[in-house]
Amino acid sequence: MPLTPKSPGPEASWSAYANEIYAAGLLRGDVPRLPTDLTRLEELFSRRLPAGPVGYVAGGAGDASTARANREALDRWRIVPRMLRDVAERDLSAELFGVRLPAPLALAPVGVQSVVHPDAEPASARAAAALGVPFTTSSASSTPMEEIAKAAGDAERWFQLYWPKDREVAVSFLQRARASGHSALIVTLDTAMLGWRPRDLDQACLPFLHGVGTANYFTDPAFRAGLAKPVAEDPVAAVQHFLGMFADPSRTWDDLGFLREHWDGPILLKGIQHPDDARRAADAGMDGVVVSNHGGRQVAGAIGAAAALPGVVSAVGDRLTVLFDSGVRSGADMAKVIALGARGVLLGRPYVYGLALDGQAGVDHVVRCLLAEFELTLALSGHRAPADLTPDSLVRAD
Ligand code: FNR
Repeated sequence: MPLTPKSPGPEASWSAYANEIYAAGLLRGDVPRLPTDLTRLEELFSRRLPAGPVGYVAGGAGDASTARANREALDRWRIVPRMLRDVAERDLSAELFGVRLPAPLALAPVGVQSVVHPDAEPASARAAAALGVPFTTSSASSTPMEEIAKAAGDAERWFQLYWPKDREVAVSFLQRARASGHSALIVTLDTAMLGWRPRDLDQACLPFLHGVGTANYFTDPAFRAGLAKPVAEDPVAAVQHFLGMFADPSRTWDDLGFLREHWDGPILLKGIQHPDDARRAADAGMDGVVVSNHGGRQVAGAIGAAAALPGVVSAVGDRLTVLFDSGVRSGADMAKVIALGARGVLLGRPYVYGLALDGQAGVDHVVRCLLAEFELTLALSGHRAPADLTPDSLVRAD
């Protein structure tokens, strides 16, 4: 079956974005508003936005060594192109949890998007929906999940849970997420507390303290039931209540039953980096794991996420759907990660930079660049579909 993304048109492939760009240049003298090399977005973002959002989005834990390790771990793998393999017909589509997607890609949960653009999560969700790429709504979104769901229309969407300490709030979040059409649940385990983040600390600046990124909590009946006064009358108390329940560091593997009890769709655990943790996820009846270190935002000095991927895949790849994020910046990165056994990729910071720099159009541009380059990388290295990529498509550079 040929690829049929919802945009730029049913007959086109993702790589047709290159033709579109050249045609706009030829006919109108236009050039893309944002770079097509997505590794250039961070610098542009850092120059154009205020220091607060720049530190929050681009920053990492400690000396940012894990964010660097994410890039190094991906760079260590090199693609070995193969020739004369008939790559005329290409199909990037992938099935995840019984749903056929136009590519093995979803947008990662990223909270607090209003700090980079007033259109925030709904703009990102609309861009994703138009391309058929699932959007993951964060618990810490700056827009209530129902509004994000409305922006996504009938498109596939997933919900990410920061598992609140308060059981009633957790249940309410899961019910609201399900009622607003989120199909898969991603439970983030790596944020039992916020990491040491010098770029936020040095500015004494954290969006949550200003009630940004708390929209799902402040609109939640179970959360509000715990407040003495309405949020608008005592916002400081509301923020304190949020901080007190945001996460529960005492949780263990024994607690996972709660999730299955309250969610009837697929459940993935995000933040898995050790094969034994992946095995425990499988033993606990989870459907998948996201190999991720939160983009290096939690633990400095940690293993690059792509270095953790092969071990997790060999431990549970036959039992669980393994997804990946942390450091993916190009179609080539995406090809490497799929070759290492991930069934899909969550795109993080690059789409947020796109949102910051050009709203919904920026997210659209970033996703289309990524998938166009992914398709070309796949084809030019001798593969027709993501499933054709295997560890044999790569070599170690060191
Ligand atoms: C995140 N991430 C994140 N993860 C999550 O589970 N819930 C969340 O609310 C957020 N919020 C968030 C905000 C910002 C500004 C960033 C940059 C990241 C982590 C995200 O889902 C993903 O794991 C990383 O973004 C992957 O790393 P890269 O590829 O963006 O470097």
